[in-house]
Formats: sequence, C-alpha cells, structure tokens
Amino acid sequence: MASNIRLSLWFSYIASLHLSFTLARSDNYIIHMDLSVMPKVFSNQHSWYESTLSQVTPTNNILKSTSSKIIYTYNNVMNGFSVNLSPEEHEALKTSPGYISSIPDLPLKLDTTHSPQFLGLNPDKGAWKASKFGQDIIVGVIDTGVWPESESFKDHGMTKIPSKWKGQLCQFENTNNSSFCNKKLIGARFFNRGFLAKFSNISATIVNTTRDEDGHGTHTSTTAAGSRVDGASFFGYANGTASGIASLSRVAIYKTVWGPKGDAVSSDVIAAIDAAIADGVDVLSLSLGYSNVSLYEDGVAIATFAAMEKGVFVSTSAGNDGPSYKTLHNGTPWVTTVAAGTLDREFRGNLSLGNGVSVTGFASYLGIFSDSNIPIVFMGMCDNITELIKVKSKIVVCENNNGTLSSQFYNVAEARVVGGVFISNISEIEMSQLLWQPLPLIIINQKYGEIVKDYIQSNSNSSSVAKMSFKITSFGVKPTPSLDYYSSRGPSNSCPYVLKPDITGPGTSILAAWPTNIPVLSFGSYKIFNKFNFLTGTSMSCPHVAGVGALLKGAHGDWSPAAIRSAMMTTSDILDNTKKHSKDLATDKEATPLALGAGHINPNRALDPGLVYDVGVQDYVNLLCALNFTQKNISAITRSSFSDCSKPSLDLNYPSFIAFFNARNSSSKMTQHFHRTVTNVGEGRTTYVASITPIKGFRLSVIPNKLVFKKKNQKISYRLSIEGPTMRQKNIESFGYLTWKDGKHVVRSPIVVTNM
Ligand SMILES: *[C@@H]1O[C@H](CO)[C@@H](O)[C@H](O)[C@H]1NC(C)=O
Ligand SMILES: *[C@@H]1O[C@H](CO)[C@@H](O)[C@H](O)[C@H]1NC(C)=O
Ligand SMILES: *[C@@H]1O[C@H](CO)[C@@H](O)[C@H](O)[C@H]1NC(C)=O
Ligand SMILES: *[C@@H]1O[C@H](CO)[C@@H](O)[C@H](O)[C@H]1NC(C)=O
Ligand SMILES: *[C@@H]1O[C@H](CO)[C@@H](O)[C@H](O)[C@H]1NC(C)=O
Ligand SMILES: *[C@@H]1O[C@H](CO)[C@@H](O)[C@H](O)[C@H]1NC(C)=O
Ligand SMILES: *[C@@H]1O[C@H](CO)[C@@H](O)[C@H](O)[C@H]1NC(C)=O
Ligand SMILES: *[C@@H]1O[C@H](CO)[C@@H](O)[C@H](O)[C@H]1NC(C)=O
Ligand SMILES: *[C@@H]1O[C@H](CO)[C@@H](O)[C@H](O)[C@H]1NC(C)=O
Ligand SMILES: *[C@@H]1O[C@H](CO)[C@@H](O)[C@H](O)[C@H]1NC(C)=O
Ligand SMILES: *[C@@H]1O[C@H](CO)[C@@H](O)[C@H](O)[C@H]1NC(C)=O
Ligand SMILES: *[C@@H]1O[C@H](CO)[C@@H](O)[C@H](O)[C@H]1NC(C)=O
Repeated sequence: MASNIRLSLWFSYIASLHLSFTLARSDNYIIHMDLSVMPKVFSNQHSWYESTLSQVTPTNNILKSTSSKIIYTYNNVMNGFSVNLSPEEHEALKTSPGYISSIPDLPLKLDTTHSPQFLGLNPDKGAWKASKFGQDIIVGVIDTGVWPESESFKDHGMTKIPSKWKGQLCQFENTNNSSFCNKKLIGARFFNRGFLAKFSNISATIVNTTRDEDGHGTHTSTTAAGSRVDGASFFGYANGTASGIASLSRVAIYKTVWGPKGDAVSSDVIAAIDAAIADGVDVLSLSLGYSNVSLYEDGVAIATFAAMEKGVFVSTSAGNDGPSYKTLHNGTPWVTTVAAGTLDREFRGNLSLGNGVSVTGFASYLGIFSDSNIPIVFMGMCDNITELIKVKSKIVVCENNNGTLSSQFYNVAEARVVGGVFISNISEIEMSQLLWQPLPLIIINQKYGEIVKDYIQSNSNSSSVAKMSFKITSFGVKPTPSLDYYSSRGPSNSCPYVLKPDITGPGTSILAAWPTNIPVLSFGSYKIFNKFNFLTGTSMSCPHVAGVGALLKGAHGDWSPAAIRSAMMTTSDILDNTKKHSKDLATDKEATPLALGAGHINPNRALDPGLVYDVGVQDYVNLLCALNFTQKNISAITRSSFSDCSKPSLDLNYPSFIAFFNARNSSSKMTQHFHRTVTNVGEGRTTYVASITPIKGFRLSVIPNKLVFKKKNQKISYRLSIEGPTMRQKNIESFGYLTWKDGKHVVRSPIVVTNM
C-alpha cells in the first residue's frame, strides 16, 4: 500500500514534468493467447498470464509491480487478458510462447410511455401474453449504470428469480449490498479497471458503484424491461403509464461508462460481457459502439461472438452519425443492429401574447414554464450571437425564410436566451433537430408569425410580454413511423456483405426513467429534476429491440439469436400509418434498407414469422474466412487456435440481401447469386410462394419460387439471382423486396443493389 502511494506520487511528479512523453509510453492492450500451449504446471490461465508477464517486465525497475499489471483475465469471451504495458514490454510480450495477437484498448461511444402501445403490444394477446411479459428472461444492460430507487425497478407481484441466474453481486457505493437489488433488478456490477488504467488522471473522481451518474443507463434499462409505472410524465407531456417492453423480465446492470464525458474502453466492456455470460443473461442490450474498427479489433464484436454461441440475443445501436452512408457502427454479422425511427406523437407548445391572443406550433419538449409573463423581442434573422446575448433574459422571436433554421437554433442556444420562437414553415427534417435543443422552443407558421410580429411592433420592446406553455402531446401523428435523420446508415464498414442495419425501433423522444438527482434540464441557474426524461437516439431504439428479444425468447425458448433476429426482420413493417412506404426524414423519400433495415419492428407478428433464416457458428466462421482474415484474426474472435476455412463464403444465411455492382473495368453484365435456407417454424404442412418487387435496370429471379414444407422445422433452400450492369451507373443504391407468402405468413427480405 505504502509503495503504491509512493509510486503514484512519483508518477504524477514525472507526469507533470514530461506529460506527453510519459502518457504516450504506457497503454492498455488486450492480449489474445493460445490456451492450447499453456504448460501443465499452471493450474489456471490467470497464473499462466502472470508468469508470462513477469518474463517481459524488468524486475529491477521500481515502476513495475508485475502482479498488478493485469487489468482483467477473460474467461468466457476470449482466451487472454488486458494489461497496461510500455511499448518495450508490449514488444517483448509478442515473443512469449502462446502469444497470438494484441489489440489496442479502444474507446467506445455512447449513442446518446407510449412506445409499447405504439408497437402494438397488448396485455391480452400477442407477444406480451405469449411470453408472460418476458418473466423468465434476464436482460443484461451494458451502460452507465442504474438508479435502483426508480419506480421502474419495483418488483411487486414478480415471481422468484429464475434459478439459471448465477449473478452474486449488487455493487453500490463501494460495497456488495443486496438491499439495492430485488426480483426486478437482480444484479448490478461495475467495470472500471481498464478505464482507471487509461484515464489515471481522473481516477480520483471515480466511485466504485453501479449507480448511474449520467442517466443514460437508467433510461435504456427501463426502456427494455422496466416495470409498469402509472402517471409517468415529463411535466405533463406523454402523461400515462410508462412500461418497459418486457415489463416482467429481470434486469442486470453492467456499468462500463465513466467520468464526466461518458468514456468507455474495450477492456471494461469485454469484461462486462464476460461477466454477463457467466451470470446467465439471456439478452444483452449495448447502446454503444466504436467509430470504425475491423471486426477483430472491435471489443463488442469479439465478446458478443461468445454470447451468440451461448444463445444470448444481442441488440446494439447503429449509431447517431446519420444521414450519410457508411456511418453505422456495430455492423457485426452476429448481433442485431438497430436504427431509430419516430413515434406517432409530436410536441406542441403555445405562445400566449400579453394581449390575450394565443398561437400554437411545434415545440421542443423542454418547455418548463407556463405561468409567468416574460418579455418578448423580435430579433429578425437571429444571426448575431452578440445581439442575442444582450436580450437573453427575454423570449426571442426569429424569422426564418431561407433554410437557416439550424444556425438560428445554434445561435439562440449559444446565447442561452430564456426561450425561442421561430417563424418558419419547416419540414419534419428540421423538427427532428429541434427536439434535440436544450431550450424551450416553439416553431410557428407564417400566419401566426405575422400576429406575433404585429403585437411586438405595436408595443415598445420593453412592454411586449408572452407566456410559453408546452403541455400538449398529439398522438396519431401522420405519417409515422419515419426513419429519423440522425440514425446511422449502412453499409457496415466492418462487413459490408451483410446488409445493416437490421431493424428500426422507436428512438426519437422516448420517455423512460431517470435518476432523481440528475437534472433533466439545466440552463443558466435553472436545474429541473424529474423521475422520467425524454431522450433521443439509437441508444433508445436498441433497448426496445432488446425488450422484444426478451419477449420472443420467453415465447420461443429454443430459438437461436439468429432465428430471433430473422423473425423480427421478416415480419417488420415497411408501411407507415398512411399505408405508404416509411419515409426517411433526411431525404423526405422512401427510407431505404441501408437506413431502415428490414423495417420497423412489429413484436406481435415476430412471434409467428412462419419461416426463419438461421445461422450457425460455422457459417459465421466461413464468412470471416472469406473476409480474408488471417487465422490469428479469426481466432481473436472465435477463441479457437484453428478455424476451418475450407468453405469460405460471404453469402451468409441472412434474411436480407446486398449486391455490389461496382467493378471499375467493364461495361458488360454480371449475375450475383445468393443462397438461402429457410426453416419452417410454423405449424406443419404449408406452401410458400415467392414474389419480388422489381428493381429498375436489374433482373431478379428466385429458384425455386415455391417452397413446399411437409413438417415443422423442415429446412428448404433457394437461390436469388440478381443480374445487372457490372458497374452501376446512376443511383448509388436501389432496393426491392423478396417476399414469401403461404396465405398466413408474409416473410419479407429487403434487397439492396449498390455501386458503393
Ligand atoms: C453479495 O451479496 C449477495 C446477496 O447477499 C451474496 O449472495 C453474495 O455472496 C455476495 N457476494 C460477495 C462477493 O460478497
Ligand atoms: C445497504 O443499503 C441500504 C439501503 O441504502 C442501507 O440502509 C444499508 O446501510 C447498506 N448496507 C451496507 C452494509 O452498506
Ligand atoms: C485525462 O487524460 C485523457 C487522455 O489520457 C485526456 O483525454 C483527458 O482530457 C484528461 N482529462 C483531464 C480531466 O485532464
Ligand atoms: C475503486 O477500486 C479501485 C480498485 O479496483 C481502487 O484503486 C480505488 O481506490 C477505489 N476507489 C474508491 C473511490 O474507493
Ligand atoms: C395525467 O393523467 C391523469 C389521468 O389521466 C390526470 O389525472 C392528471 O391530471 C394528468 N396529469 C397531467 C399533468 O396532465
Ligand atoms: C471506415 O473504415 C473503412 C474501411 O477501413 C474505410 O473505407 C472508411 O473510409 C472508414 N470510414 C470512416 C468514416 O472513417
Ligand atoms: C393552446 O392553444 C390552443 C389554441 O389556441 C388552445 O385551444 C389550447 O387550450 C392552448 N393550450 C394551452 C395549454 O394553453
Ligand atoms: C453583432 O453585433 C455586435 C453588437 O451590435 C456588432 O458589434 C457586430 O459587428 C455584429 N456582428 C456581425 C457579424 O454583424
Ligand atoms: C436569403 O438567401 C439569399 C441567398 O442566399 C439572400 O440573397 C437573401 O438576402 C436571404 N434572405 C434573407 C431575408 O436574409
Ligand atoms: C415555405 O415558404 C416558402 C415561401 O414562403 C415556400 O417557397 C416554401 O415552399 C414553403 N415550404 C414548405 C415546406 O411549405
Ligand atoms: C426592439 O429591439 C430590436 C432589437 O434591439 C430593435 O431592432 C427594434 O428596433 C426595437 N423595436 C422597438 C419598437 O423598439
Ligand atoms: C479475398 O482474397 C481473394 C483472393 O485474393 C479475392 O479474390 C477476394 O476478393 C478477397 N475477398 C475480400 C472480401 O476482400
């Protein structure tokens, strides 16, 4: 202990003298080892790793204390460990027996009550009933932790914890204290050793607890599986019952996101998934990912391969970096990658002028005051922040007629005015940006704008006053769902041959539980607290799909993660509530599968998909082989020292198709073939017939176009062929659908052709 203190003091002294030099020298690494060459003298892998490390770290150096260098030893998700090493030690380790490869400890990015009803869930029938609200299912959430006191974690009426649960820990406030856990919140663990090693400069501020110091994890975990809470609202918005999708499933929280900036590193996330598998989770929800890494360096991809082998359904967020192509993360073939769409509600606010006249418009949901009159001023185009700061104690009215709304939002937010009123006939694209603004905002149309301007101009600036009120929620908004602007788009950078994202879930303005000591709104000296909060992002759509995964697993205990994903995809909705193809708010056109995935999730139909496209472990290995990964790279994912690459294939048995027509050197035609095998999970005998929506400039055919099943669980194969120009000229992408129907089921797969 004493030497540790001396060590750290000495270290900070050095660090202050040679900051950049010292920091560059030592870093975290994740080391893959070949367990098959471990000498028999070692009783376990940990002692072998310790011994290996002691060989490469000089013993006479006071900076080295070998026994504490290992950050984690991983047991389930990989053979190896994470460790903080100098570059010299790292080089020396590479020559040790059993060393396979190492990857850097990369940072991950967090993708920051009405939704169950919107998804068609009903207590009396469908997925809720068939799964008993997911009561035997355990959902693990890897995030910023949890606020255990939230009403959404009350366990009244819940049956006893399933015996498959092996989790021992309920870690809060530096102790294992089971009084924070119950039959709903069944486990709580934190993982920060990798973070502390990498961000040693802020380690003093880190408390060893699973308590959520951000709010994100409380929100995502209660979205997936929070208990029903009546009267949940956000200052009057969305007033009603808040319920997680799988409201009787159990929740286990794994906290891996730390510090004021919400940082997470691979070594901790891998350790959390490792622990979740050992604890016995059935479903994992991960609303975080890397910006752009290969599959064998992607800690989520590596660790979730083992989860997939164990039958754990993994839901991940696509990211919030849309609307450009190739912005998606978690494009990993063995997880479910979730895009984000809108709900059928909108937020409206009223502006009541001092003369008693009231106008109404779209509003941000962060309206907080309704009772007091506040001075209101007209500021034209609102293009000068200095001018806006001068009137920040007022409601500012801005006029927009030139597509400058987003810069006006920015200026008004930057000036921290009390509230903003925008005169504009904006489209929904800009609406979705509005909902992100941390200020009370109302957008009114030109007609109302004239009324407001007339009022202000007929008074002197100082005597014009208005009230803003925000307590109006409109349901049944049309058209919804739409794919939202921010949702990241495919193709996947790490594996473009598998069409991603897979599916869309509700992500925009989702109400869920929130820590009561973290403000839902703070600007100026205002700090507003609430038990529920609205958040927007693929971070929010991901736990919806995790919740549906829990319901499907509860109803179909024998389905693999790939079968669950397939059921969700092939039964999803592509039509909105106006019976037209769902739109993309970024383009105002039909949302393509590179944005929407197969469609918007429909839990009740996913319960009975008719056919599923299953994928086995070797199928994924065949894909990794065809990506031309080395044996070392493949073993980093699969954990076996040798992978059978005798049948490499990019043609994974997936319920979607992406065909690249991007050859540079020819103008002739080419045909691409896709082989698929479907399993009949419906009842017994049935015949499915194929239909294909045409794609202009391409010839699509399916052989056979009729599948005759004699019994349940029978598998039949078919081939889809796409003929087209070797190099697609005009549009970057086009899409269509292949649909199998048997009179009862509709099994639909998206097809994308692209020259990307
Ligand atoms: C943590 O608490 C639980 C519940 O009391 C107990 O079963 C478990 O053994 C404890 N674990 C540790 C490591 O103390
Ligand atoms: C466990 O938590 C409860 C509830 O906060 C508290 O009353 C109790 O003192 C804690 N026990 C320990 C050992 O920290
Ligand atoms: C801590 O160090 C990291 C990189 O090592 C740096 O990005 C971060 O800004 C530092 N934080 C503080 C509070 O100094
Ligand atoms: C948290 O645990 C680590 C060891 O894992 C320890 O070094 C650190 O001091 C602990 N932090 C607090 C605030 O107790
Ligand atoms: C919420 O709804 C309940 C019942 O529908 C009603 O009694 C309550 O006043 C509402 N609260 C708000 C803030 O609108
Ligand atoms: C991501 O990686 C791929 C492949 O390495 C590369 O082609 C692409 O440009 C990268 N994208 C970004 C946004 O960095
Ligand atoms: C908002 O304005 C509309 C129409 O002007 C009015 O019917 C409604 O009562 C107002 N709502 C509030 C909360 O002021
Ligand atoms: C913004 O307003 C300030 C104060 O009125 C003025 O000095 C400045 O030149 C203006 N800036 C621009 C870019 O117009
Ligand atoms: C609108 O934009 C055009 C061209 O960018 C510009 O000439 C015009 O002055 C703008 N209108 C206003 C009211 O700023
Ligand atoms: C908004 O108004 C402008 C001119 O007032 C008009 O040209 C434009 O088409 C309108 N946009 C929408 C979406 O109605
Ligand atoms: C109100 O204030 C704005 C901005 O300071 C100014 O441009 C405008 O002339 C004022 N109007 C009246 C009627 O005083
Ligand atoms: C893998 O390598 C083979 C042979 O060089 C090549 O034909 C193929 O296109 C490569 N596959 C990928 C996915 O890069």
